[in-house]
Amino acid sequence: MNKKDEKNKILEQNNLDKISEINNDASDKMEKIVSLAKRRGFVYPSSEIYGGFAGIYDFGPMGVELENNIKNHWWKWMVQKRRDIVGLDSGIFMNPKIWEASGHTKGFSDPMAECKECNTRIRVDKVLEEIGVSADEKMSEEEINKLFDENRNKIKCPKCGKQNFSEVKKFNLLVQSNLGDFTKKGDSPAYLRGETCQGIYVNFSNVVDSIHMKLPFGIAQIGKAFRNEISPRQFLFRAREFEQMEMQYFTHPKDEMKEFEKLREYRWKAILDLGIKEENIRWKQHDNLVFYAKDAWDIEYKYPWGFDELEGIHARGNYDLTQHSEGCGKAQDYYDQEKNEKFIPHIIESSIGVGRLVFAILDNAYIEEEVKGEMRVVLRLNKKIAPVKVAVLPLSKKEELSKPALELFEKLNEKFVCQYDETQSIGKRYRRQDEIGTPYCITFDFETLEDGAVTIRDRDTMEQERIKIDELTDYLEFKLK
Ligand code: GAP
Repeated sequence: MNKKDEKNKILEQNNLDKISEINNDASDKMEKIVSLAKRRGFVYPSSEIYGGFAGIYDFGPMGVELENNIKNHWWKWMVQKRRDIVGLDSGIFMNPKIWEASGHTKGFSDPMAECKECNTRIRVDKVLEEIGVSADEKMSEEEINKLFDENRNKIKCPKCGKQNFSEVKKFNLLVQSNLGDFTKKGDSPAYLRGETCQGIYVNFSNVVDSIHMKLPFGIAQIGKAFRNEISPRQFLFRAREFEQMEMQYFTHPKDEMKEFEKLREYRWKAILDLGIKEENIRWKQHDNLVFYAKDAWDIEYKYPWGFDELEGIHARGNYDLTQHSEGCGKAQDYYDQEKNEKFIPHIIESSIGVGRLVFAILDNAYIEEEVKGEMRVVLRLNKKIAPVKVAVLPLSKKEELSKPALELFEKLNEKFVCQYDETQSIGKRYRRQDEIGTPYCITFDFETLEDGAVTIRDRDTMEQERIKIDELTDYLEFKLK
């Protein structure tokens, strides 16, 4: 059979012209993603064999690869591609005075009410938003109680359905620990950081002194953050332990808004570069700014329940370094030698949660389509971030095939993240790889022993090509670029 006939046969076998996407806006998409995430080793609920632990998730073998690829992509965009941004990895624990100076010990709270019948706690601003009443966590206790009282008759307990709630109290989200406290009194708690950026602010002068960065410049870091979320929910969207990727950009006060616009544009491009479809994201400007902020925008993603915050980009004025100057008693200012000018830099922040981004990327890539009358689930992940790039699949388990196929796997695995799979039918193996988003499957068959060529199947088109093993690395390098 010549190449053209072979291709036609493959097209025909795969019913390529009959592929149609189905159900991709279905209301049960959330459950489908959560189920795929567990089934295929992306995300597991924490401590499952002990009945779980709310608000915490474990990333499985596929999840950790995807997560690392996403973090590397962010690091490349936010540090390595930029001459004006440097990296940092600060400790999770810091002097508790930092959280006093930043305002977190007093102001980092969400409004909570408790059902008097079954003790279920609700986050009042979110529950009000769900019934179309505009509210947010920045409101005072008095303001939110007033709104809550006006709408009590519309709000039911999500567990018991009754309408008997306590008054609203602000609940502080900082997670406390007894690190370094051996007295058992608990009166001088150390906190697990509630956001990674405080580690950046308190290292601002270290970076200036050691690396001699000139304004404007940024410091970026990726790391864990912890929050006592009242009602962790919506899968990875609102967790109690999560990772943040944050960059703080220090500017002269007069440059703040110009740099803010540049950063907004840059972050939009970076999100699109991950393969997120433009119709799935949008800008939302905050209408209730904290007193020191100049402007604040979120990039929202269209999650299964609708558009919601993915990333925040905020112009924060000189609030953060002013607070720490007062807190530590040393001015956290910048001296511009050329202009002989001393001032406290203004800060622009970009902040995104790794988990929220993983969730958005899974949702964005999840496709169900009908092929030859059968449903196929495929993760159309951007090839750059797919957890596995290539799967090597011998057609038979016989040593005659499995030995050279394993050798091929070892060779390719030096360059690309590969999987070797010889279990079950080739169709089932393709489906498994489709579900984890592997861009290329290589079938090693008996003909390979004669012609030194393998069949490569493309995840998205399901088209198959016969390629000489000698040309395989170049072929894959080109395709995965
Ligand atoms: N330093 C600013 C800051 O932390 P934030 O809006 O509280 O601001 C920034 O958080 C980003 O961190 C959010 O846009 C979101 O992506 C992520 N994030 C916040 N809380 C989260 C949670 N409970 N679970 C998962 N991700 C969260």
